[in-house]
Amino acid sequence: MKKIYLTSVSEAFAEYPKNLLLWNYWDHEHVVGTHFLHYRKVKILYEDEKVCYSEREAKMPFIPFYLNEKSLAVLENENRMISWHSAIFDLIRLKQIFQFEEVGQKCKVIRSDFLEVPNFLSFLQPMFNKIMKKWFIEVWNEDMPMRERRFKVWKLGFKDFKGVDYINDKNLNKNINVSRPYALKLPLPKITKIKDEGSFRKFKKSKHLGYGL
Ligand SMILES: [Fe+2]
Repeated sequence: MKKIYLTSVSEAFAEYPKNLLLWNYWDHEHVVGTHFLHYRKVKILYEDEKVCYSEREAKMPFIPFYLNEKSLAVLENENRMISWHSAIFDLIRLKQIFQFEEVGQKCKVIRSDFLEVPNFLSFLQPMFNKIMKKWFIEVWNEDMPMRERRFKVWKLGFKDFKGVDYINDKNLNKNINVSRPYALKLPLPKITKIKDEGSFRKFKKSKHLGYGL
């Protein structure tokens, strides 16, 4: 049967560096917490500095049930990330390309979506476009508070979770460079069992207390 792609393109601009946005996309543990309306489980099957292969239970806008999906994300280069999603015995196959365009300490993200479907389902194109644009904006808005917090802490001089030197030791001068580049090292350290049992949602109605520890 002839296959075609339903497509959608969404974009948004953030007042944060590209590496901070990449940190956010590669911080898989926040997904069941911050995005609890869309995800209820994430389990990482494999991860390294460029690749993450995971199982997810996801709920898309206008679709009243969760889909079990397998997801492979690849950081092709520092400006481009690709993810492939497969659900319902590979009947649903979605490819997403994320392009990051950084200017100074700010960054635009462009996400292109491609859903492979049989030709006779081409009439679903307007609905697919609507679903994916709604999904992008909802998830983007849910991510903004943690991005903002992260950037504030970075500008205060964050290095690691041992604390900030000049706050721990009053004898040290507050000598920080607020415009230092945001550092990113993948894969990110984990605090949950996301690689063993998976990360589940514990507090159903909190955007901030959802991490399955
Ligand atoms: Fe997120």
